[in-house]
Amino acid sequence: MANTIIIGAQWGDEGKGKIVDMLSAQSSLTVRFQGGSNAGHTIRAQGEQTILHLIPSGILHQGTLCLIGNGVVLDPAVFLEEADELSKRGLDVSPARLGISKKAHLILPYHKQLDKAREAKRAGHKIGTTGRGIGPCYEDKVARVGIRAADIGNPSLLRDKVRHTLLEKNILLQELYKFDPLDPDVVADELLAMAPRLIPYLTDVEARIDEAAARGENILFEGAQGVHLDIDHGTYPFVTSSNTVSGNAASGSGVGPSFFTRAIGVAKAYTTRVGSGPFPTELLDDSGTYLRERGHEYGATTGRPRRCGWLDTVILRASTRLNGLTDFAVTKLDVLQNLPLLRICVAYEHEGKRCERIPQEEGALDKVNPIYEEMPGFEADISGCTQFGQLPSAARAYIRRMEELVGAKVSIVSVGPDRQQTIFM
Ligand code: GDP
Ligand code: IMO
Ligand code: MG
Repeated sequence: MANTIIIGAQWGDEGKGKIVDMLSAQSSLTVRFQGGSNAGHTIRAQGEQTILHLIPSGILHQGTLCLIGNGVVLDPAVFLEEADELSKRGLDVSPARLGISKKAHLILPYHKQLDKAREAKRAGHKIGTTGRGIGPCYEDKVARVGIRAADIGNPSLLRDKVRHTLLEKNILLQELYKFDPLDPDVVADELLAMAPRLIPYLTDVEARIDEAAARGENILFEGAQGVHLDIDHGTYPFVTSSNTVSGNAASGSGVGPSFFTRAIGVAKAYTTRVGSGPFPTELLDDSGTYLRERGHEYGATTGRPRRCGWLDTVILRASTRLNGLTDFAVTKLDVLQNLPLLRICVAYEHEGKRCERIPQEEGALDKVNPIYEEMPGFEADISGCTQFGQLPSAARAYIRRMEELVGAKVSIVSVGPDRQQTIFM
């Protein structure tokens, strides 16, 4: 039995969806443990593309139960839409194989309004959020005024809570942001209209995990975003509002830290980031454009162009430690094809000194200069390789050097978006 956590080791969009989908073939349960519909996880199987925002990436495997843990903030309308789309394609998304923790917090319309209104007001200091209401929903959870999934089964409690929280939010919306106030009854009515469809999905996620573990089954824990978007350990304040590190797989799904056997960090063979914030190895020249176009680096959730740059092993070394990573899955190695020279950032120059770790003061990462090592590129098309030995020697050397620099082994190399374009080491 293996209980494996999969997290993004960079700034998101590393290819977690693909890796979780692949590993779900051998798992009877896949659990999402944080984030919300800010995530966009892409899977390509038999030429067909699926983008998931909330439903765990194990859903394409008929035998896999998919659960949304308490650590997720769930937009009920997005969930139902996503389930409907999958159902139209003939997939079973019945409550027999899909569940939502009763403790998960719900994203309501005022969360999305506040998210957008705040971003609009932040002129010059925008975080570049996805506008999905993630931050405001987590704020309510911590402020103890959140609406939890189970509340939709208790209309009078739900109405009470919405009324209470809107007392404050309507003042913000109206006075500060010049939005129309929201009528608490309308908000509650809209949510309750979805209740008959949502209630059958509500479940005790901890109990379901317990039962699967007792049967000795393999369980996967699917992270969203990436380590450097973590609310504590990321490039604050240019981060998301949840803990994206592996430790949150425990509290975000309701198991203890000793439950896990393996933690895999997914990393691209280069680096990307969407939204604002420091990015030491960002390429603003033709090489950056080359990576963006060859890698189709446009957001799966918002369609925004992703910023692209060289591989940064300072941030990956930090990821190894912050998450106790046992191994890495390296994706998009194929995208590097035809670049004559590959650069790997091995350290930073910070205030005139060589620095192997991320400086922690706000703004400091904007000022570092990457120290690069250069390696020869490769010209051969590797998208059909299924074994490590089939890769050109320059590509193998790149992966081996990466292993040394990040301090963990690479156990999966992905050479294309499709399931079969994967090398298991
Ligand atoms: P996630 O959020 O971590 O699941 O990643 P996204 O789905 O947002 O972005 C990853 C993108 O890269 C998707 O379009 C995938 O289909 C694609 N992808 C994943 N692995 C590979 C790979 O090895 N090569 C190429 N060319 N594309 C890949
Ligand atoms: P997946 O799971 C990449 C970024 C946003 C913004 C910051 C805060 O697909 O890897 P938020 O809406 O969360 O308050 O935005 O975080 N961001 C992501 N970037 N991949 C994601 O998810 C992201 N989810 C949020 O662009 O910079
Ligand atoms: Mg994504």
